[in-house]
Amino acid sequence: MVAPTITISADEVAFYHREGYLAVARSLSTPDELVMVRGIYDRLFTEMAGWEQGSAFDLAGTDDDSEASLPQILGPSKWAPELKETLYYANAYAIAKQLLGPECQMGGDHAILKPAFKGSPAPWHQDEAYWNPDIEYHSLSVWVPLQDAPVESGCLHFVPGTHRMEVLSHHTIGHDPRIHALEIDPSDRYDLSTAVACPLRAGGATLHYSRTMHYAGPNLTDRPRRAYIIGFGIPPTRRAEPRDFYWNAGKQTARQKRAADALAKRQAETAR
Ligand code: NI
Repeated sequence: MVAPTITISADEVAFYHREGYLAVARSLSTPDELVMVRGIYDRLFTEMAGWEQGSAFDLAGTDDDSEASLPQILGPSKWAPELKETLYYANAYAIAKQLLGPECQMGGDHAILKPAFKGSPAPWHQDEAYWNPDIEYHSLSVWVPLQDAPVESGCLHFVPGTHRMEVLSHHTIGHDPRIHALEIDPSDRYDLSTAVACPLRAGGATLHYSRTMHYAGPNLTDRPRRAYIIGFGIPPTRRAEPRDFYWNAGKQTARQKRAADALAKRQAETAR
């Protein structure tokens, strides 16, 4: 494995735990590595790698349109394992260990592309709202832009302190069950006026807890905004109190259908 080159300061660790997010301005990568990764990234999105398996899809649409408004690929390193042999992976892991402890492990990775002059906003949400309600998570995400990510290209925004809240109720965008992306219900329990935008240079990173409220605006620039996200966590535990994430149970997305079809096909092939 590649040796990490970055450590964060005690002040940064304290800031993260207090505010629920952290922006790291220095690059986790190198200019040459970013060129290489952008090449892989663009190829995966041209192919929409994982489409048939339901792991590539339009996060903010129904997959009916010829061009996705917010294309996402889950597990890009499955299609390009060399992505895990990079300096930014090593640095993201090292920072995650500083924040979560030495037993922390890599979870999944994903990629969210906002095409130039396009790319729907990713509405306010908590990542944990997508996950298993019976599990108590201790995890964070590292969000790395592969090119400069100014506010107008759709960098992340956070509401400080919201990592201490429970998961609030969510709904799919427009209450459309065909759409995967979730949006937090309007509530007086949070105050968006304290939100902080975190523009970054290429290879910088933001980190956030699984419950920190965050949002990314549309891409108004003439260049694609490529974000690579890696999840880390210490082993989750079973929750004593159950939760009901009913907003996921009601979904009927084209990607679920493709995933089910691909699974049935694999099972039929194994049975033969
Ligand atoms: Ni998110």
